[in-house]
Amino acid sequence: MLVVALAKGRTVKALVPLLARAGIDASALEQSDRSLIRDAGAFRFLLLKPDDVPTYVEHGAADLGVCGRDVLRERESDLLVPLDLGIGRCKMVLAARAGARRDLDLPRVATKYPRTTAEYFAAQGVQADVITLSGSVELAPLAGLADFIVDLVETGETLRQNGLEVVAEVQSVSTVLAVNRAAYKLRRSEIGALIERLRQAVHGAPASG
Ligand code: PRP
Repeated sequence: MLVVALAKGRTVKALVPLLARAGIDASALEQSDRSLIRDAGAFRFLLLKPDDVPTYVEHGAADLGVCGRDVLRERESDLLVPLDLGIGRCKMVLAARAGARRDLDLPRVATKYPRTTAEYFAAQGVQADVITLSGSVELAPLAGLADFIVDLVETGETLRQNGLEVVAEVQSVSTVLAVNRAAYKLRRSEIGALIERLRQAVHGAPASG
């Protein structure tokens, strides 16, 4: 069996049709029970919090993982990334309250991505005070905790409804397939075949069985 670590929630929802196009029966992923291990034919899926997907794959508890580029960059994960799955597309942006001053000497920046944010400001030559949060990041400028946020934007609705606007794009994000380096060497034919089936499914070709 190949063990695949998956980010629960949105990623699973978007992934199921893609797996079906690749000829992989992933109906086990659609069952709405609380079991965290789902077996489907030659695959065992582990359902995790998005941030934990690279951990399972790096330590070899999963051979492969499906998660966002945002998480891989933040964790500086040492994994192979052979395929962009073309789902979960969004942007990581720097945002602030509409009309707020932007030329601050030591901006306070709230984010779930402290490493990526620090790198971004360092690359701009700006010293920033990075404040780590674990969710509802848009609240921080409204409550006076921070001057800016770095967060993901998909539709832009959360920013809009909270009176925030995009200042700059930090990186574009999408969901990728990540592979444990040792597993890739040891199980090259199985993993290579899976990558090829998924690649065809991403690019719209029919599954060949
Ligand atoms: C994500 C992200 C934004 C929101 C963006 O949050 O952190 O808050 O979605 O989506 P939108 O541009 O379509 O409005 P999530 O729902 O994962 O919750 P969180 O705030 O707890 O991270």
